[in-house]
Amino acid sequence: MCHPARRKATKRAMLQRAILESWMPSDRQSLPIVRSVASLGAALAAMRRPGERLALVATMGALHEGHLSLCRIAAERAPFVVVSIFVNPAQFAPHEDLATYPRNEANDVAMLAASGATKLVYAPTAGEMYPDGFATTVAPKGAAEGLETDFRPHFFAGVATVVTKLFAQVGPDFAIFGEKDYQQLQVIRQVVRDLDLTIDIVPGPTLREADGLALSSRNAYLDTRARKVAGSLNVIMRDTAVAVARGADIGDALSKGRAELSKAGFDSIDYLEIRDATTLRPVTDRALPKRILAAVRIAKTRLIDNMAV
Ligand code: PAF
Repeated sequence: MCHPARRKATKRAMLQRAILESWMPSDRQSLPIVRSVASLGAALAAMRRPGERLALVATMGALHEGHLSLCRIAAERAPFVVVSIFVNPAQFAPHEDLATYPRNEANDVAMLAASGATKLVYAPTAGEMYPDGFATTVAPKGAAEGLETDFRPHFFAGVATVVTKLFAQVGPDFAIFGEKDYQQLQVIRQVVRDLDLTIDIVPGPTLREADGLALSSRNAYLDTRARKVAGSLNVIMRDTAVAVARGADIGDALSKGRAELSKAGFDSIDYLEIRDATTLRPVTDRALPKRILAAVRIAKTRLIDNMAV
């Protein structure tokens, strides 16, 4: 006669195996995908070894080599890498590109499977992330003030809220964020610090095309002419940064940089600024690390970039 506790444990193990098999892809080009908080918890319980370190790479999909490099950094830190794919409505204003944001989950998952670093894909639905009655927002200030916020006032509350939820749902030891979205990286570091979250935020360097254009999912919007112009953004930013590093007046260098951007063919410049690299406040001490940050528009595309000065 089987002991009731053993019978219960066997039943639980059988249930876990059945659940696991239901996410497991039939072909080896794919990865297990879970779409709810409950199945995420069950998948982690079934797939992760006790005490195994976990790293999260949070994405909105439309993956490119930049995201895969974040997964590789994640795998260097932790054997269990979870990639989340969620186009977060809360970080788009009504007039922005939520509806047209590039989505190709099958391709994303195939890329992650081929790159080998990822163990599990978490792709929740909007209803799962923001169920009826959802009414709490993480509203960061500090590093979130100015720059992007001057043009996308809703953006960092949307990002901070979804990232805090992802942290609570996935429970990572590490989370990797690209330096491409430098203000976002600083805001997330601040949220983690301010809310006493025990997660190591690890930055991933920006990957660039041959002409220096930072890899971005939104580069897919660029037509041939816009793509050509886009390549000059990093060149003008680098020239401006070099001038300041060599002692030029920051205001003068930025005015020259803005004029160069207009001449290169960008339709408008949201900002081209040099800021304290940690606080993102205007530079008061030139000896402290500085960052040049830009957001520009060409045709229907808004590009952002940044680099150390
Ligand atoms: O950088 C992104 O792709 C998004 O802002 C993030 C961090 C996944 C939150 O939706």
